[in-house]
This record gives sequence, structure tokens and C-alpha cells, in this order.
Amino acid sequence: MQTFMLIMHLAFMGLGIGMSCSNFVNTRLAAGKTGDIAKGLALQRRQIASIGDSVIAAIWLSGFILLQMRGWEGLNGWFTAKMVFVVALTVSHIMARRTGAEMMRTGNGALLSRVSMYIAGVWVSALIALALAVLAFE
Ligand code: HEM
Repeated sequence: MQTFMLIMHLAFMGLGIGMSCSNFVNTRLAAGKTGDIAKGLALQRRQIASIGDSVIAAIWLSGFILLQMRGWEGLNGWFTAKMVFVVALTVSHIMARRTGAEMMRTGNGALLSRVSMYIAGVWVSALIALALAVLAFE
């Protein structure tokens, strides 16, 4: 059962990293675009971001189930450091979602570079969390 949960945890993690990279490419492509191209890219970006809400929730949930299964004792400093970057990636995602929503509401295309920066915050933090998780559990 614990092995199955770990597989799910890693699958959600891989999905999350892939989706945030994909949305980062989307924002770079969308820079300076107008009309139907901008609308199409925004549609794609918002759909991926909305699936991202569930993927991040699933990473947290599977992580806590794993912690319950293995027990909370013996967690080292690498694990604490990992959790700092898990929080960082979650906050970056929330900020990207809020800024994206503001961009849609106000029609202010200049906010796109901020969305792009927050999305970069998601995948860079996720990659660092991945490396720290490997160190924590080796
Ligand atoms: C609330 C968030 C999280 C918690 C509580 C959590 C907890 C855990 C636990 C307990 C394990 C060890 C499972 C075992 O070997 O029995 C694990 C493994 C792992 N986690 Fe997480 N995790 C979280 C989020 C993340 C995130 C965001 C990433 C990467 C982006 C990540 C990447 C990994 C990796 C790569 C492993 C496998 C490490 C290895 O076995 O070498 N985790 N996690």
C-alpha cells in the first residue's frame, strides 16, 4: 500500500512539474501576442492552471498519507528544507492563479510577465523539492 502511495505521489509530482513547465512556455509564447492567438493561449493556460489546483492538492494529500504510513519520527533536516520549497511552490501557484485572474478581469496584458515569473517559481521550487526529497529519504 505504501509503495502504491509513493507511486501516486511521484506521478502527481511529475504531472505538476510538467504542467508548470508547459504553462511557463505558454506565457513566453503569449508575450506580445494579440487577438485570437492570445485568447487561445489564455484558454489553454487557464485550463492547465485549473487542473494544477487538483494536482497540487493531490501532492499534499499523498505526501501526508505517506507520512502517516511511514510514521513521523526520524524526519531529517532535508525533509524540513523540502517542505519549505513545497510551501514555496504552493504559494507561487496561488499567486500565479490570482494574477492570472486579475489579468482576465482587468484585461491588463502587462500582468503576463508577473504570471510567468510566478509559474517559474512553481517549477523551480518543485525541482528543488524533488532533489531535497531524494536526499531526505536516501
Ligand atoms: C505536503 C507535501 C509533501 C509531503 C508531506 C511529502 C512527503 C513525502 C514522504 C513521507 C515521502 C517518503 C515516502 C517513502 O519513501 O515512504 C516522500 C517521497 C518523495 N517526495 Fe514528497 N511530500 C510532499 C510533497 C512533495 C513535492 C512537492 C515533491 C516534488 C516536487 C515531492 C517529491 C518527492 C520525491 C521525489 C520522493 C521520493 C524520494 C525517494 O524515495 O528517494 N514531494 N514525500
